[in-house]
Amino acid sequence: MNTLQQNIIAWFQKNGRDLPWRKTYAPYHIWISEIMLQQTQMERAVDYFNRWMTRFPDILSITRASEEEVMKLWEGLGYYSRARNIIKTAGILITEFNGKIPADHEELLKLPGIGKYTAGAIMSIAFNRDYPLVDANIERIFARLFNLAKPVKDKKTHAYIWRKASELVPKNRARLFNQAMMELGALVCLSRNPRCKICPIQRECQAFCLGLASKRPVLQEPAKTVFIEMATGILQREGKLFIQKRKSKGVWANLWEFPGGRLEPGETPEMALVREYEEETKLAVGNLQKITTVQHSYTIYRVTLHCYFCSLLDGRHEPVLNTAQEYRWVTPDELSRYAFPAGHRKLIQHLQNNFDMLQKL
Ligand code: ADE
Repeated sequence: MNTLQQNIIAWFQKNGRDLPWRKTYAPYHIWISEIMLQQTQMERAVDYFNRWMTRFPDILSITRASEEEVMKLWEGLGYYSRARNIIKTAGILITEFNGKIPADHEELLKLPGIGKYTAGAIMSIAFNRDYPLVDANIERIFARLFNLAKPVKDKKTHAYIWRKASELVPKNRARLFNQAMMELGALVCLSRNPRCKICPIQRECQAFCLGLASKRPVLQEPAKTVFIEMATGILQREGKLFIQKRKSKGVWANLWEFPGGRLEPGETPEMALVREYEEETKLAVGNLQKITTVQHSYTIYRVTLHCYFCSLLDGRHEPVLNTAQEYRWVTPDELSRYAFPAGHRKLIQHLQNNFDMLQKL
């Protein structure tokens, strides 16, 4: 090992946090913890991890639970596709891999929800095999260590970082080294106010030596915001409300919603709503009453959502679904049992805050 590798590992052995999955490095524990840690703070992840392991001590127990129960345990962590992918992968592990996580990088990459990062984490942390991994912490360290002049997501820079990560993994020490790097990023090489004074690789760090640590990584141009307008309608019939479940692919897969969609050029929200109902359900709706307008954001979009009550015009009373997999007529009380995308959740919240609106139904 070179000095850089030795210093990082020695620092980790002294300063690494005591985390529940660092007791045994069981592959199942590493898999679940690494999925939870994506997009989630360490402290929160530890709580969820402990609860998860109490309820699902092994892979088989996940496959025996209902999807509803798994999602409930995930509630609050967000990015629910992570939980759905865990369920799918657990099923594959039971049927095709004897209930065990394979120590095979190629096979891991084929499993739902396991990409290059997670496969690298399982290979190195669980099995101590010589595989690299790169997360946001490691990107930041490399941007400083090598004084990279482009944003870490720049294609060539990204490839360079993975190559460097691969070259730096010391033989038979991947478990220690990869965790040490992430820990260094989490505790010392912070994005704002890096703690260079206590950094074990300060002397090797090009950005530090040039006085540029606070200027690295170079920030990416933020993606251009796109403003869009949408309309949605809560269709009422005999005190019940119409909801439909989105298909299992695409945006907001498997979530429930009220029909609606984007305004086309020249359309008013009312016109868009009537058209979307016709396209999505073949139902003719009218008697539109404005409820509210909600604003919400996802990825690069800033959405203005015009919300209405509506009712059926003469004609068809049950829908012919075009874009959804299932529909239900539910009472207002029952809405809280279903998972909706953020904009529709805001609409439901608005209705619950204005209780009299629902009582009139
Ligand atoms: N962040 C994600 N995975 C981690 C790990 N294994 N150690 C430290 N920080 C992490």
